[in-house]
Amino acid sequence: MPPQEPVFFDVSQENKDTDIEALSQGLLAHPATLSPKYFYDAMGSVLFDAITLLPEYYPTRTEHHILVAHAHAIHAQLPKQATWVDLGAGSCQKAAHLFSRTLPATYVAVDISSAYLANQLKDLQAQHPQVNMVGVGMDFSQFLTFPAALQQQLSAHPVLTLYLGSSLGNFTPTEALSFLQKIAALCQQGQPGSGLLIGIDLVKETHTLERAYADDLGVTAAFNLNVLRRVNHLLGSDFDVRDWQHCARFNTQASRIEMHLQAKHDLLVQWNGHQRHFNQGETIHTENSYKWSIDQFTDQLRAAGFSSIQHWTDPLVHFAVFWAQ
Ligand code: AVI
Repeated sequence: MPPQEPVFFDVSQENKDTDIEALSQGLLAHPATLSPKYFYDAMGSVLFDAITLLPEYYPTRTEHHILVAHAHAIHAQLPKQATWVDLGAGSCQKAAHLFSRTLPATYVAVDISSAYLANQLKDLQAQHPQVNMVGVGMDFSQFLTFPAALQQQLSAHPVLTLYLGSSLGNFTPTEALSFLQKIAALCQQGQPGSGLLIGIDLVKETHTLERAYADDLGVTAAFNLNVLRRVNHLLGSDFDVRDWQHCARFNTQASRIEMHLQAKHDLLVQWNGHQRHFNQGETIHTENSYKWSIDQFTDQLRAAGFSSIQHWTDPLVHFAVFWAQ
C-alpha cells in the first residue's frame, strides 16, 4: 500500500490584497513597522530553525528540557485519542517529540509558511502512518477559523491545542488575550479533556535576553534582514539589505525584546508609486517578543476563560510550560 499523504488546506493567500496594503502602510508610518509574520518565507523558516540551535537562544532548548524533565506529569494531562491542533507547527519537531509518549488520533499542523509546512508534514506522516495528518497553511494571527471539512473532526474528539515555542510573545498582551480567548473557544468546541499546552518565555536579566536576539554568528541578524528581501518580493520595493543593520534591545518597561532594522546611511526606498526616505539611524520595527512572569500569565489564562491551570519550569525559571483547561 502506498504511504498515506497528509491532507493539505492552503488558506494563507486569502487576504493577500489587505496584507499588501497593511505592509505598505507600515513602511510609510513613523516609525516604520513590519509585521513579524513576514519573516517566515522559505529562507526565513530555515533561518528560524537555525536560531533554535544557537547557544544564545535558550527558549527552544529550555522548553524541550521542561517537556522531557516533566514528561510524566505533562503527558498524564494530555487527552488520549485527541485531535491535536499545532499552532505555528513549523518543522513539526516539537509535536513529533511528544508523539513518543502520546499519539494523537489526528494531527492538524498549522503554519503561515505553507510550502515549508507541507514538506515537514510529509516526512512526519511517513514516520507515523497510523496518525491522520492534516496541514493548514494559514495566518492564524488574523483568524482562528478552520476549513469546514475539519470542523466535524474538531467537535468529535477532545482538542489539544499546542502553542509551543513562546510564539504568543510576538503578540501584545491585548492581542494575546484575544488570541487565548479564541483558543479557549476552540477547546470548548472539543470533547471533555480538551486543553491548551503552551510555552511561555519568562522575564529575566537583560543580558541573557539581549544575547538570545543578537547572537555571535549573526543568524538572528540574517533572519531580521531577510524580511527586506521578502518585502521586495511582495511589494516590488528596492530595499538593499546591505544598507541596514540588525538591532535587538530589551524594553524593560514594556517587558519585551524589540527587534529593529536600522539604516546605515540616508537612503530612499521606492515601491509601486510610493517612496520613503530613511535618515541614517532611522529604524523599522520588525518584532516584539514579550516576556511574562508566571503570575501575569496565569492571570491572562484565567481572563481568557481557562479555569484549571498548572505549569512546569526549568531550574533557572527561564521558561514555563502551561497546561490550561
Ligand atoms: C517565533 N518567536 C517566538 C521567536 C521569538 O523568540 O520571539 C522569533 C525570533 N525572533 C528572533 N529570534 C527568534
